[in-house]
Amino acid sequence: MFITFEGIDSCGKTTQADLLAEGLKEAGWPVVFTHEPGGTEIGDKIRELLLSKENSQMVWVAELFLYMASRAQHTEERIRPAIQQGKIVVCDRYTDSTLAYQGYGRGLDRKLIHRLNHIATGGLIPQLTFLIDIPPQLAMQRKFSKDRLEGEDSDFHSRVRKGYLKIAKGEPQRFCIIDGSRGIEEIHQEIMAIAMGKLRA
Ligand code: TMP
Repeated sequence: MFITFEGIDSCGKTTQADLLAEGLKEAGWPVVFTHEPGGTEIGDKIRELLLSKENSQMVWVAELFLYMASRAQHTEERIRPAIQQGKIVVCDRYTDSTLAYQGYGRGLDRKLIHRLNHIATGGLIPQLTFLIDIPPQLAMQRKFSKDRLEGEDSDFHSRVRKGYLKIAKGEPQRFCIIDGSRGIEEIHQEIMAIAMGKLRA
């Protein structure tokens, strides 16, 4: 089983992905918890390049290719082998992030992003994706530090949020849209119940 978490910056998805991974482990499932960009030695170097404020000159297509490069390495080296070993992979961000941020946020060609995602992943698609949805205004209030992308204006984050909702509504079997404005524990209980339901199905 391959489960991903998506959402705008500061939506709380990393906390929720981590709690789900821990909850599933406690329930006796073998779990690999990982993230993008990064998740491998090479991917972590790419992540540094992508998120460093020193790289404000980076053009959008270069950024797109770097996310894809990190994903290709991650899928081949980490995700696919874990799935083949029968583990549950919980991944903080995956292909939908690029569609939402580079596609809907930056305005890059979404068909091209679909094709590049397909090449980077060899067609590996999650069975379950949690979209932690919060308004950008709430995300702004939660923010403590700003990396290169978090420094984008609120219009950018509004476009990314709307993009995520469109993607999710287009694939209702895979996506669960979670109201992320509630408390951590309440959200976790909902996510845990959905994941356990799918695992037992
Ligand atoms: P993180 O804060 O969830 O670790 O993600 C780092 C940043 O990278 C975040 O601002 C979202 C952005 N991002 C993209 O723009 N495209 C992508 O494909 C991915 C995986 C992340």
